[in-house]
Amino acid sequence: MYTICWSPKGGSGTTVVASALAIWHDGPHTLVDLAGDLPAVLGLDDGGRGVLDALATENSIDDVDRLSTNIDDRHLLIRRGTETPVPPHRWHDLAMHFAQQGSYTVDAGTVASIDDLPMPLLQHAHRRLVVLRPCYLALRRARLISHFNPDGIVLVDEPGRALSADDVANCLDTPVVAQIPCDPRVARAVDAGLLSIRPPRSLDPLSRL
Ligand SMILES: Nc1ncnc2c1ncn2[C@@H]1O[C@H](COP(=O)(O)OP(=O)(O)OP(=O)(O)O)[C@@H](O)[C@H]1O
Ligand SMILES: [Mg+2]
Repeated sequence: MYTICWSPKGGSGTTVVASALAIWHDGPHTLVDLAGDLPAVLGLDDGGRGVLDALATENSIDDVDRLSTNIDDRHLLIRRGTETPVPPHRWHDLAMHFAQQGSYTVDAGTVASIDDLPMPLLQHAHRRLVVLRPCYLALRRARLISHFNPDGIVLVDEPGRALSADDVANCLDTPVVAQIPCDPRVARAVDAGLLSIRPPRSLDPLSRL
């Protein structure tokens, strides 16, 4: 399964959701960081080459896997790497590689416009998830990029919000496939870089996706 996650609004929980989805894969699985925070959330160092470095060359796209680092004995991370211009055809090659090899979760970060997410990465994904809080401003932005056609919404629920999961699903005409609570244990695990080692139980709904 090649899954891509993004959010129309910063700080929604996309990196947490992408990490948890990957960690709960039983077999070998690779997390791909296009947004920059995954090493910190996983307690790894920031340094080293990454996906952007691989895309900037004309080497075989398979080489991208050589840039991965072990998260644990089954899970790998490919870092974002150095900011470099990427020829458009390389995004297509990368997307095809993810789709054919099939065991990747991409954290695409905040996507506010069509320029923020290379279309091939979306087009070839087996599963497209948008991560949202039940926030009117986030919903407005999600509607502006609704042509990205997510298959599902992962809702990071906050207490006291007026909008329900049904409101969010109806507004975007997309099902809410998982609902996770805003849980201080998640924030503490992130701050300590321990999310992959001790994922809090409140993230369990993601293990069933
Ligand atoms: N379910 C949750 N419960 C409590 N806090 C959470 C939860 N999910 C994420 N957070 C916290 O919210 C903040 C943002 O989370 P995260 O980095 O995953 O969001 P993001 O959408 O990837 O942000 P960015 O736009 O910066 O990439 C972090 O401090 C994280 O610890
Ligand atoms: Mg992030």
